[in-house]
Amino acid sequence: MDRYVTGAVIRRLRESKKLTQEELAQKIHVSDKAVSKWETGQGFPDISLLEPLASALGISVIELLSGEDIRNTNPHSNILRSKFYVCPVCGNVIRSVGEAVISCCGISLPPVEAEPADDEHSINIEVVEDEYYVTVDHPMTKEHYISFIAAVSDTGVQFVKLYPEGSAEARFKRGRVKKLYAYCNRHGMFEAKS
Ligand SMILES: [Fe+2]
Repeated sequence: MDRYVTGAVIRRLRESKKLTQEELAQKIHVSDKAVSKWETGQGFPDISLLEPLASALGISVIELLSGEDIRNTNPHSNILRSKFYVCPVCGNVIRSVGEAVISCCGISLPPVEAEPADDEHSINIEVVEDEYYVTVDHPMTKEHYISFIAAVSDTGVQFVKLYPEGSAEARFKRGRVKKLYAYCNRHGMFEAKS
């Protein structure tokens, strides 16, 4: 875990709960000086305090660590807003719907931002009966390859992992697919032009 609760987050959440430093301190059985130290960046709450601290602030530990009050900012998680997180070390791909704090291989991963497909990563879509046959014009060498193709609909995500020396292609049930993405290990994620 390389991301930890920060003083600014504690202060913001405490103030939004209309608690004084003293009141928060009492709730979690620490001194108000300790709370003041956290908020001014002179120390961190011990990991054993994260749970009581989150509950005193009325949020989950995940929210506390992500620095966001998820219920307020994201009332309806929408599967079309699925986020992909790709680990640069092991290549693991993690998908979330809504906010999450994701880490892999000791690195906290930001969600991958998709760009419109460019000439080097053009995504071709062919309709074959009830399927989309998707190909990407792209090298598939060990150094530079398409590592996955995903089709996102409003009901779920179809995901095909690809490997170097393989072919950059995938088949998806057409269903209600709204977005198609291809991820290049060097250049990031691209979204098919709709
Ligand atoms: Fe590429």
